[in-house]
Amino acid sequence: MTVTIKTKEEQDKMRVAGRLAADVLDMIGDYVKPGVTTGELDQVCHDYITGTQNAVPAPLNYRGFPKSICTSVNHVVCHGIPGDKTLKSGDAVNIDITVIKDGFHGDTSRMFFVGKPGIQAQRLSDVAFEAMWLGIRELAPGKFLGDVGEAIQTFVEKNRFSVVREYCGHGIGRVFHEDPQVLHYGHRGAGMELREGMTLTVEPMVNAGKRQVKLLNDGWTVVTKDHSLSAQWEHTVLITADGFEVLTLGAEARANLAKTGS
Ligand code: MF3
Ligand code: CO
Ligand code: CO
Repeated sequence: MTVTIKTKEEQDKMRVAGRLAADVLDMIGDYVKPGVTTGELDQVCHDYITGTQNAVPAPLNYRGFPKSICTSVNHVVCHGIPGDKTLKSGDAVNIDITVIKDGFHGDTSRMFFVGKPGIQAQRLSDVAFEAMWLGIRELAPGKFLGDVGEAIQTFVEKNRFSVVREYCGHGIGRVFHEDPQVLHYGHRGAGMELREGMTLTVEPMVNAGKRQVKLLNDGWTVVTKDHSLSAQWEHTVLITADGFEVLTLGAEARANLAKTGS
């Protein structure tokens, strides 16, 4: 178990990487329309990251992953591989972006709807979003990873949805997935104590049905075992002296922060 504490200089590099990852999500939203393929979304993101940002798409060739982003549609929980799949009105897709800039990683994902979302898909996405934020708001020196897990699990289960257990958030820095593991379930006071200078992701996967998942034969795509819908949101966060700083806010969230302080 080796948790890295980032120096002030490293924290600045994490801020840059986080901002770039958020910029990709801000950019790709307009492309999520009926008729687009997930492979086309991957191509646009790849070109933007490498061409405009002069950054590296971290997923490409990561442990053999063949594409630059993950696109997880409807009952796909995570790690969907972009390809020929054409998006149609009513689909919900998680787009997960990780960029490397100046040696550091920024990792963030959001849900996008193609056309008008179904009622359940919207509610599921809203619960996953709020669960992520409830987890993030637990982060501060002296708090415990279990505080994050319990906050997320309690909220999700109160809403009669379930939390995926096989995949979790993670430390992040020069390494894509480093210690600690950030479980999205658990008990207050359990697990590692948080310290200033840690950077980690909070990225709950929330299922409309049962929590069990299945790995497809491509070795990557994770789906719900009962084929129910799944939703996920992710931010990369820095633990600061008095709490946390979210490194992957999009332009809209940054503007709201500047205006209202929340
Ligand atoms: N971005 C994912 C995460 O949040 C990991 C994707 S790994 C890949 O941790 F190889 F599938 F890209
Ligand atoms: Co992540
Ligand atoms: Co991610």
